[in-house]
Amino acid sequence: MSIAEILDTMDYGPAPESDKEARAWIAALGGETKLFIGGQWKKAKSGESFETASPATGEVLVKIAQAGAADIDAAVKVAAKAQPGWAALSGHQRARYLYALARLIQRHSRRFAVLESLDNGKPIRETRDIDIPLVARHFYHHAGWAQLMETELSDREPLGVCGQIIPWNFPLLMLAWKIAPAIALGNTVVLKPAEYTSLTALLFAEMCQKAGLPDGVVNIVTGDGSTGEAIVNHPGIAKIAFTGSTEVGRKIREATAGSGKSLTLELGGKSPFIVFDDADLDAAVEGVVDAIWFNQGQVCCAGSRLLVQESVADRFVAKLTARMETLRVGDPLDKAIDIGAIVHPVQLKRIRELVDVGVKEGAELHQPKAAMPGKGCFYPPTLLTNVHPASTVARVEIFGPVLVATTFRTPSEAVELANNTEYGLAASVWSETLSLALDIAPKLKCGVVWVNGTNMFDAGVGFGGYKESGFGREGGREGLVAYSKPKWLAKAKPIMEKPAPQPSGDVVSTSFIDRTAKLYIGGKQARPDGGYSRPVVSPAGVLVGEVGEGNRKDIRNAVEAARKATGWATASEHNRAQILYYIAENLEVRAGEFAERLAAMTGKRKSETAKEVAASVSRLFSYGAWADKFEGAVHKPPLRGVALAMNEPLGIIGVACPEEHGLLGFVSTFAPAICAGNRVVAIPSSSQALAATDFYQVLETSDVPAGVVNIVTGDRAALALELAKHEEVDGVWWFGNAAGAGKVEKASAGNLKQVWAETVSRDWYSPMQGEGREFLTRATQVKNIWVPYGE
Ligand code: NAI
Repeated sequence: MSIAEILDTMDYGPAPESDKEARAWIAALGGETKLFIGGQWKKAKSGESFETASPATGEVLVKIAQAGAADIDAAVKVAAKAQPGWAALSGHQRARYLYALARLIQRHSRRFAVLESLDNGKPIRETRDIDIPLVARHFYHHAGWAQLMETELSDREPLGVCGQIIPWNFPLLMLAWKIAPAIALGNTVVLKPAEYTSLTALLFAEMCQKAGLPDGVVNIVTGDGSTGEAIVNHPGIAKIAFTGSTEVGRKIREATAGSGKSLTLELGGKSPFIVFDDADLDAAVEGVVDAIWFNQGQVCCAGSRLLVQESVADRFVAKLTARMETLRVGDPLDKAIDIGAIVHPVQLKRIRELVDVGVKEGAELHQPKAAMPGKGCFYPPTLLTNVHPASTVARVEIFGPVLVATTFRTPSEAVELANNTEYGLAASVWSETLSLALDIAPKLKCGVVWVNGTNMFDAGVGFGGYKESGFGREGGREGLVAYSKPKWLAKAKPIMEKPAPQPSGDVVSTSFIDRTAKLYIGGKQARPDGGYSRPVVSPAGVLVGEVGEGNRKDIRNAVEAARKATGWATASEHNRAQILYYIAENLEVRAGEFAERLAAMTGKRKSETAKEVAASVSRLFSYGAWADKFEGAVHKPPLRGVALAMNEPLGIIGVACPEEHGLLGFVSTFAPAICAGNRVVAIPSSSQALAATDFYQVLETSDVPAGVVNIVTGDRAALALELAKHEEVDGVWWFGNAAGAGKVEKASAGNLKQVWAETVSRDWYSPMQGEGREFLTRATQVKNIWVPYGE
């Protein structure tokens, strides 16, 4: 085409980026890659490998080594050996290494960008301008945390060896999200890239060598799901950090149950993109382009469900379909391409099949007329309108460039539709009325909300999901802290649960009143469903009283009551503080009675149990104090705007209270949960259950709304398991032995609820161990609301 013709048609000409350097790097690999273990390149012991291809052409690039269990064992061992020395360096020394990595990534940014495009199929425009700059930003940001660790996280220490498993949609970026915070705090890592996209991780390993990173701090092992499983199951690993499908996330939750490994999961999504009738529709159309056609829609937080207000729906869809005609699909290395290749034929097939299902279920298909590349793994930008919220394509994560559209009439209907998914990763809200957008954002059940924007990320702003989109955050202080643990844990002893004392003969306490304490559900005393009771017996075998034997039905009733108490989450912090102080006041009025009851159940002197009551009053005061002080943050990411980090309650938390300290253990666990706005179903200590059942009257006289605190007595382990299985419970806290922790964690995989399973004893009297931020952090999840500004 002549220049004159180009000027006439204004068509794009090809603007290819050279892949010469990246190909030379691939050629130097010698046909098959090696594993990076202990600072050296090693052949996989299995001798196996698989091919990796460029999705744009199908051309095989190189063979990737398949690491087996023996390779993983070797990698974990060198990582474990390297970890104490790495953690013993000063924060400043570690910061220098992270800083060096950031600089090296910048210096080699073009090679990284081209290699990523070749291997993954994503457009060079995105790898060059988004992925790689964000990778460098993560290392810079976390170099800063390494520097500050000794002062800012002085009571915390690293976990040990972290196993990190990442997906193929943002290969190098996910690596950075995982490795930077882990090594900043003194952990070492064994990371597995996804099988389709291993190459940039191997180039990163070379950067670790160039930076002089001590051997064994970063280990890169390639392979498929079985390699991932070997990492998950290795006993030398202290934490698993996973990003990928919800299905595999669930398997990992089950596999790590009871192992004591920390776990963070960043999983799938079906995120809503909500357009109100007063939105800037042209800007919102560009927002859609970013939300669902960025990275071919292979983005966990892709805005894949368009919810548009009915009054502007036709106009918006017309604008959108017109814009779709201008999108260019093709060679990812062409700088003027908007949409590159789908990562693998398997994924392409899945996208095609799901779109077919959508059409069969009644959706109307919109695709641009422009020709598609003749070969390679491409799929056109696609819009499905007339989609019923219950149809397959509205519920299932398609993970491709496919947007499904539904309309709504009112803001509350928009919220209902937006939350009508088991996922909860992100949402985009478009309205020129900021008060409306900021009213909607907290009502959306997801970890990230972008107001008049989409797909904004930063190292300083946490990212992660609610519900089945996983738990834990990446980025931000909250993501960082998850790579550390309190220092006092190192000296803590495992909890050994003793069998409950049995009554000896007919010895009955003088304080025994012949009446069985009932359960406390929805603000009322309730008889246990089964009609049975269980004795509460002192260590000397004296029968002190009886409590209800709760069962599965009682747990269901308690959860139902908690579910109805929705007002608590939105009550003002001041209001929650007042009620916590009031509980304290009313407990103090009855301090003598409680001390006596504790003495009868434990055989301790009353002077001693009086101290437990006083400590419980003080604890309630602490949470009254915290209620309006556990605040979020305002982040200033590098854009014109802010990100508001808000601590939101999990929802309903089931608490298996500590067995020791019947009153203090109960108060120390339900109080932080309600302080943060949660509703609680508490299973008190079995041997000291009367301390909790006596507490009804305190709750009743303290204006605690019905359903906010529910108490079900009975077999702690069995009842905790019921809570862990319950789909409407959002979190479970287990303070008990390791066997119970394993069962609770495994059962929680159903709806991927957050579990805090603590199997070591803490000093409940100590303010350092018994209260404060650690509890409140467990009771909340951070939502980041991005609010860009400017004309
Ligand atoms: P996947 O979840 O199977 O793969 C992610 C990573 O986990 C890879 O490194 C893989 O090798 C590893 N893995 C697989 N099975 C494992 C196991 N049992 N134990 C430990 N590690 C294991 O995702 P896949 O198959 O690549 O994609 C399937 C679907 O998952 C996609 O269509 C998409 O819906 C979703 N997905 C979501 C992602 C997200 O960021 N939310 C990323 C990738 C996929």
